[in-house]
Amino acid sequence: MKWLLLALVVGVLWQGSLSQYEDDTLWWLYYIRSRYYSSGPSYYYGPSYNYGPSYNYGPSFEEYSAPISTDCPGECDCPPSFPTAMYCDSRNLQYLPYVPSRMKYVYFQNNQITGIQEGAFENATGLVWIALHNNQLLNEKIGRKVFSKLRSLERLYLNHNNLTRVPAGLPRSLRELHLSYNQLPRIPNNALEGLENLTAIHLHKNQIQDVGFAFKGLKSLIFVDLSNNNLRKVPDFLPDTVEQLYLEYNNINTIPVEYFKNFKNLQYLRISHNHLTNDGIPSNTFNTSSLLELDLSHNRLQRIPPVNTNLEHLYLQGNQIQEFSVGSFCSFFDITNFSKLQVLRLEGNEIRANAIPSDSSLCLRRANYIEI
Ligand SMILES: *[C@@H]1O[C@H](CO)[C@@H](O)[C@H](O)[C@H]1NC(C)=O
Ligand SMILES: *[C@@H]1O[C@H](CO)[C@@H](O)[C@H](O)[C@H]1NC(C)=O
Ligand SMILES: *[C@@H]1O[C@H](CO)[C@@H](O)[C@H](O)[C@H]1NC(C)=O
Ligand SMILES: *[C@@H]1O[C@H](CO)[C@@H](O)[C@H](O)[C@H]1NC(C)=O
Ligand SMILES: *[C@@H]1O[C@H](CO)[C@@H](O)[C@H](O)[C@H]1NC(C)=O
Repeated sequence: MKWLLLALVVGVLWQGSLSQYEDDTLWWLYYIRSRYYSSGPSYYYGPSYNYGPSYNYGPSFEEYSAPISTDCPGECDCPPSFPTAMYCDSRNLQYLPYVPSRMKYVYFQNNQITGIQEGAFENATGLVWIALHNNQLLNEKIGRKVFSKLRSLERLYLNHNNLTRVPAGLPRSLRELHLSYNQLPRIPNNALEGLENLTAIHLHKNQIQDVGFAFKGLKSLIFVDLSNNNLRKVPDFLPDTVEQLYLEYNNINTIPVEYFKNFKNLQYLRISHNHLTNDGIPSNTFNTSSLLELDLSHNRLQRIPPVNTNLEHLYLQGNQIQEFSVGSFCSFFDITNFSKLQVLRLEGNEIRANAIPSDSSLCLRRANYIEI
């Protein structure tokens, strides 16, 4: 109960000190800003799954085994101390070298490879990681069954290529699929079928217009990046395991009623740079208790949508918001009921700083950065 007392005392002091200033709100903002600047900026985004492959010698803990380098293709390096890793990256290759059967981690990134011939991995069925990003892969030059027998494959890096379709026959063991920076126009409903262990899918910077029900059945999915595409609506279906959903830079203008209600695990949601209006958002859309960070910046909102008191970061800069509605953060507040919001950005709207109701400080008690 000590903290409750303390809160009371702070509350009293707060009132006292506020009354000394002509413009309570401005003072409060000033106070928040000074706290913020002393603790450094925090417009960085939540956790990301970009722990890319470590190109310096893969995570192999195998014992040193006898047959070394004799089977290594001349174009590549197969370090004796890591007998299951093969490095063929950044050497202007236009074709895929053969892969010895002992390999688990193969690195072909930063070349000019356009195809993967049928049977390319036929002996290396124990592959765990394949890095093929930054090449010029074309779907018509990828054998239809190249990946399907790789029953241990967990990470496939195909980002920065010339793909127009999700490659066929992805193995069910896959955990991370990297397809950002390609030219995919859509994700067909069956493209990811059966990938029960897929936790992260990276589809940033394609031309995707629709993902339909492609994510249905991905029961381990946690991270979905669909930013910088041509989506006009949110995905029809997402598994309730998703924790991070990135939809910024699309053409989304509406969100279906109760869309986020079933996502009990969603913590980070970014829909900045879309065409959202308040009319396109049913009123309690973003009032979900799991959300920690919500980015709605650079849309066409005229009011602050109601959010849950658990939300910690809210980005609303670059909208057309005209008033500061404290009721969007706390429908009710007292000593124990208040918003956990820490960072609020509202600059580039139509609100003036002195339009903030002075009782906002009671609701936004945890705020340490508010930009108007
Ligand atoms: C797979 O192994 C067989 C037998 O050793 C060999 O003939 C064939 O060329 C190998 N295939 C590839 C793609 O390395
Ligand atoms: C892949 O796309 C790039 C950029 O659009 C282009 O310059 C290149 O010629 C393409 N490669 C192939 C093999 O089509
Ligand atoms: C999925 O992951 C679990 C746990 O690591 C593993 O036991 C299972 O074999 C994987 N499923 C597939 C299809 O590889
Ligand atoms: C959010 O929803 C809860 C009930 O789920 C409700 O009590 C609360 O008032 C809502 N918050 C806002 C700001 O509307
Ligand atoms: C917040 O207020 C609601 C409604 O009056 C109440 O049911 C709830 O217990 C309060 N929360 C806390 C943490 O006291």
